Amino acid sequence: MRVLVTGAAGQLGREVVDRLTALGHEVTAAPRDTLDVGRRDHVLGAVGAIRPDVVVNGAAFTDVDGCESDADGAYRTNALAVRHLAEASRRFDAHLCHVSTDYVFSGDQAEPYHEWDRPDPRSVYGASKLAGEQEAGEAATVVRTSWLCGRHGPNMVRTVLRLAGEAGPLRFVDDQRGSPSFAADVAVVIEKLCADRRPGLYHVTNQGAATRNEFAREILRAAGGDPDRVQPITTADLDPPRPAVRPFNSVLENRALALAGLEQPGDYREALRRLVADFSG
Ligand SMILES: NC(=O)c1ccc[n+]([C@@H]2O[C@H](COP(=O)([O-])OP(=O)(O)OC[C@H]3O[C@@H](n4cnc5c(N)ncnc54)[C@H](OP(=O)(O)O)[C@@H]3O)[C@@H](O)[C@H]2O)c1
Repeated sequence: MRVLVTGAAGQLGREVVDRLTALGHEVTAAPRDTLDVGRRDHVLGAVGAIRPDVVVNGAAFTDVDGCESDADGAYRTNALAVRHLAEASRRFDAHLCHVSTDYVFSGDQAEPYHEWDRPDPRSVYGASKLAGEQEAGEAATVVRTSWLCGRHGPNMVRTVLRLAGEAGPLRFVDDQRGSPSFAADVAVVIEKLCADRRPGLYHVTNQGAATRNEFAREILRAAGGDPDRVQPITTADLDPPRPAVRPFNSVLENRALALAGLEQPGDYREALRRLVADFSG
């Protein structure tokens, strides 16, 4: 496949580029400074010049708290940009694969969320990402993932490993539950969905749910540290409170992948061990 990856300097974008390249696809990796997805002329120009079979959109305004104070920026990058990408993909017959988030859900539901559950975002980030899903259009693949970690970019694994090297206890909330997911594993599924040009919404997360506190403990355990250094707190204890509301439960069930008989990412603890080994090796 000839593939254009936008946001190619991001955590997931870089992993998608690596995976596609390793499989022998012809990849154009476009970071923000060469392709601003918020600009219609840039998007139409790039897709028209490259004529990719597939466009993978790794670009997003992912600063969840920053979105609260810059709603225009959030909607420009997370929603309007997807309109441009969908238009360009239609015009030049490319398949669009867009990436979205667990934060489209309120988190009020007790059970994991599947693809046919009703989104109800409580943050500007979540609302702008939901708008982006709608802009992607029926022909696109939309991959919803969550709590993303990988070799590149800031993420919870990096944060915990850094804090572990400093003195004192680590405090993580024990009332937000999600599905830790690993960019390398998500990239594998993205490649398969794109090769199939599969339209529709797919949750793509690693198996196993955890609270932030439990995840931090697993990270320390994987790094050979003492998990008991991590102390549980509640979201209400966070000082100062975060501007954006987070869902208390955003565990995703990969129901569409399962029903379609497609392979799912494995247990998050195994992926975590691989990533920690990568960091230390
Ligand atoms: N990280 C998570 O925990 C998480 C969880 C669920 C879903 N997701 C979704 O997964 C996708 C990838 O996230 P990620 O973790 O890889 O985020 P990331 O590391 O922040 O990567 C996003 C990339 O998009 C770039 N970008 C921002 N505005 C742009 C624009 N106007 N034009 C082109 N590029 C632009 C960013 O560049 P700058 O750095 O220069 O701004 C960055 O390189 C996103 O759709 C995100 O919503 C992420």
